[in-house]
Order: sequence, then structure tokens, then C-alpha cells
Amino acid sequence: MNREDGFPQDFIWGCSTSCYQIEGAAKEDGKGISIWDTFAHTPDKVLSNHTGDIACDSYHRWKEDIALLRELNAGAYRFSVSWTRIQPEGKGAPNQKGLDYYSRLVDGLCEAGVEPWLELFHWDLPQALEEKGGWRNRDTAMRFEEYAGIMYDHIGDRVGHWTSMNEPWCAAFLGHLTGIHAPGLKDRSATNRAVHHLLLAHGLALRAFRRSGIKGEYGLVINPSKPRPATLRPEDAEASERASIERTSLWLDPIFGRSYPRVFMDIFGSDMPIEAGDMDIISEPLDFIGVNYYDEEAVRAAPCSAQNPYGFEFVPTYQKKTDMGWEIEPSGLRRILSYIANVWPCKKIYVTENGAAFPDKQDADGIVRDYDRIDYIKGHANACGDAIKQGVPLKGYFLWSLIDNFEWSFGYNRAFGIVAVDRNTLERRPKLSFYYYRDLIAGFGL
Ligand code: FCB
Repeated sequence: MNREDGFPQDFIWGCSTSCYQIEGAAKEDGKGISIWDTFAHTPDKVLSNHTGDIACDSYHRWKEDIALLRELNAGAYRFSVSWTRIQPEGKGAPNQKGLDYYSRLVDGLCEAGVEPWLELFHWDLPQALEEKGGWRNRDTAMRFEEYAGIMYDHIGDRVGHWTSMNEPWCAAFLGHLTGIHAPGLKDRSATNRAVHHLLLAHGLALRAFRRSGIKGEYGLVINPSKPRPATLRPEDAEASERASIERTSLWLDPIFGRSYPRVFMDIFGSDMPIEAGDMDIISEPLDFIGVNYYDEEAVRAAPCSAQNPYGFEFVPTYQKKTDMGWEIEPSGLRRILSYIANVWPCKKIYVTENGAAFPDKQDADGIVRDYDRIDYIKGHANACGDAIKQGVPLKGYFLWSLIDNFEWSFGYNRAFGIVAVDRNTLERRPKLSFYYYRDLIAGFGL
């Protein structure tokens, strides 16, 4: 049946999750410790001292998750692999039980008609590698290439869409500069080293993928941002460009063979551990860019200083905010997609994450009537349609998230799911947004 909302028939509608946020089974079947296990078990790093030890127990309940995806008629499921299930110490021979888990998951998805989108890294670095310097250490990029190779060998015949990693900006900056994510450092030069080694890891893994001969598409998932200028004054427009550097061009420029942005190198170049040949590896051509989008802020020009090297400041705005305090601006999704399509032209772009946390309430009948989330999804789906009309090669949209899960430093105190998870019984219960998304996938949501 043809859809009636004008979206292309082959547009992919999916859902996203990540392993540490949903799997639980933190020590089962030979899994090693990751930096997120360590971080969450360090007092006061995560709100309410929650951990991912049990999470949504998807390690055991993956069939329930697949049944939900099937009920939605989702075209794809983007999930991440726990490196420490595959290599408990981040190197050497793989753990068969870990491979078996992902093999079952992939087979189950294929049987349900949901295409598996496999992501190799969503921040849960093996603790053993962290102890040797983590992403500050060049060798971690080589270890990542080895781990990626294991996944290609064991599952490459059944997975057609791969991404190396999720939001390396967060791994580098939240993990090493603000310290609100694992490993919790606050060190600018460590951050800069991590940037380079994350990109190197991506490039090495992608090259290995090309060498493997696997048929499939390969991308990198970033969380770009380009805050809109507060006014039409030229200085504010320039501030908007500069404000986007660390979230956007720092990643896409090297990926597109343009090396690191000059402004960044002028300030931080002496930290960057670039060796001969690295930039070629990093710019191995990819098949698509994954864009995670949640909000858009606004900026104006401010004087440059050591504390404010890019010379911009955020301004107050009128938008409603989600439970994360993130400003809801659907048109910002169209803007960032157009910006990327214009400056870094690529064959395909996917929205790999979009969604919202709201303080859900269960009604007496047990149902969560989350109309705010429905509005949010509808607004952003419309923005995707607008982007396509503007010529952006947008090929799919993945909702964050299928189920309520462990929201990093907020623990289980922020809910992004279209399905609620009872924290006592771990029972899954669709919210109204689940049924809305089913309609949207069928072409009736707009
Ligand atoms: C993104 C993360 C994802 C989730 C959402 C809300 O930055 O990739 O794991 O936590 O934010």
C-alpha cells in the first residue's frame, strides 16, 4: 500500500537504543567491565546512583523488544554492541557467548522483518583499555580496529548497515572535559587527544570494513549543532559558525579530507597527536552520515578570551523545553540537515536519533498519554519532510528511543521511550506515542 504523507516509500523508519542503556546483565556470560560500569558504580556520578547493571534487561528480553518493533512495523533497529561482551579486556580472542547474543538478536530482527543497524561503539569502552590511557592512547584505535574485525567476521554476512561509533563529541568532551560522562576527566589536552584517536579508530575500522569485502553501507553518527544566530547582524552569523566548530566541523572536516578546522588548530593544534598518514585513514569515504538531533540553541557574538576561544555566548530563547531542559525547535532539524548537506555533501544522511524526555504520568488505567512526545515526534517528522523538499538526501529517521532506559548521568530519571519499562517488573508497556509512531510509519501520522 502506498503511504499518503508524501514520504518516499523506501524511507526507513526505525528505533534506536544502545547496549549499556538497555541490556543489563552487566557481568553475565563472560562480559568484562566497561568505563560506564565503573563510572556508574562511583558514588554520585549518576543521579540516584543508578547503574546499568539491570537496565531494561534486554540481554534476556530481546524477544520482547523485537516483538514491539514488529508491532510498529519498524523498518530498522539501531542497536550497539557491547565491546566488553565480545572482548572482556578489549583485546584478544572473542568471547563466544557475547557473539552468540548479537547473532541471536540479528537473526531475530531479520525474521521479524526489521533490518539490523549495528553500531560498534556507544561510549562503553573496556575498562582494561581505559587503564592504559583509554582514548588518550593511540593504541586504543588499533584495539578498536581489531574488535571491529571480529564483528565483521562473525556477523558481517547478516548486517547491511554499520556505524563505527555514536557521537564521538560526547565521548571526547563529556568524558574528558566536563567529566559528566565516563571516564569523568576534566582535562583539555586529554580531550583533544581523544578527538583524534576516536576519529582514527573510526577510519581504521572503516578501512577494515572495506577490506573485508562485506556488502553494506557504513557511516559515522555525530551530534552536530549549529546554534542559530540571535539576530541578522553579521557578527552574530559569524558567532553561529564558530559555535558549531567543536560539535560539527571538528568531525566532518577531517572525515571529508579537509583536515581539522583552522580555528581549532590555531588554539589546540599542539595537543593533536597527528601522525603521518592519519588524515588519509580518517577520510576514508563513508556511505552515510548519521545525525542525532534533539534541540537547537541561539547565540550572539562575544569577545574572544582564553575561557571563550570561539567568541560566542548563548542567549535566552522562548522555546518550550523537554525534561532534559533542551529547547524544542523542530525547524532546527531541517536547518542542521541542510547545513550538513550543503557543506559536506554526502550520498545519504539519516537521522539516527531524535526524541524527547518528558515527565510521563501513568493514568489510573496504567496508560501513559504522552501527547507532548507525540507533538515532538510529529514536528520533527515534518521537519524531515521539509528537508527532503529542500533537496537533502535524507533516507531515514530513527526515534530515540524504543523503550525507557538508562539515561547516562540521569540514570532512570529521564524517560525517552515510546514504551514504558516498569522499574520493578521490567514489564514493557506501550505509551500512546508508540501507537502514534505506528501510524507515522504507516504514513498516517502527519
Ligand atoms: C544521545 C545519546 C543517546 C541518548 C540520547 C538522549 O546523546 O546518543 O544514548 O542518551 O542522547
